[in-house]
Amino acid sequence: MSVAPRQPAPDRISVPSEPYLPTTEERRDGHPGRRVTDQRSHLREGQTGCRIVDLPRIADPRGNLTFVEGSNHIPFDIARVYYLYDVPGGEGRGGHAHQQLEQLIVAASGSLDVLVDDGTHRERFFLNRSYYGLYIPRMVWRELDDFSSGSVCLVLASRPYEEEDYHRDYGAFVAAKHGGNGNGLAAG
Ligand code: TYD
Repeated sequence: MSVAPRQPAPDRISVPSEPYLPTTEERRDGHPGRRVTDQRSHLREGQTGCRIVDLPRIADPRGNLTFVEGSNHIPFDIARVYYLYDVPGGEGRGGHAHQQLEQLIVAASGSLDVLVDDGTHRERFFLNRSYYGLYIPRMVWRELDDFSSGSVCLVLASRPYEEEDYHRDYGAFVAAKHGGNGNGLAAG
């Protein structure tokens, strides 16, 4: 009995990705009626230290694949993974900053908005591709909203869950950025 030759494995070549939100206008066109709250929302890298990371993308007719290696594709080792799902329309998540934690946020399915604020600059990133991650360094306030129906937000984190690492009060976060030692602790 003859055996059909196995299909060659697809090349491990990242397909050039489409540009990330080249203009604010384009985002407006793609999402009529959606608000655009920040003129810099089209940037890959803004002034807060947050930036869009192009993750490897293995295109395959059987379905595409993206992978992330800690300290290779992102600037930290991955200590924890969590994901947000079944987010009701109009709901938001986040609303905090972290003293030490770094994160990569990926719209694994669907789309969402991430507002980031370093206490001085405020930027809004729109995530709608499984192969774009938003890197958020330590001491950046973030708010996640505008989740599309059925979306899944994957988060890779540099540390285990530590409630004491959170700044949950925006005023205290800004005060820590401007007046403290950057960790939310009194300077001294
Ligand atoms: P939180 O980080 O406040 O969620 P979000 O910022 O998305 O609103 O976490 C919500 C709750 O889940 C909080 O009680 C702590 C718990 N939690 C864990 O136990 N482990 C985790 O890794 C995370 C992210 C949250």
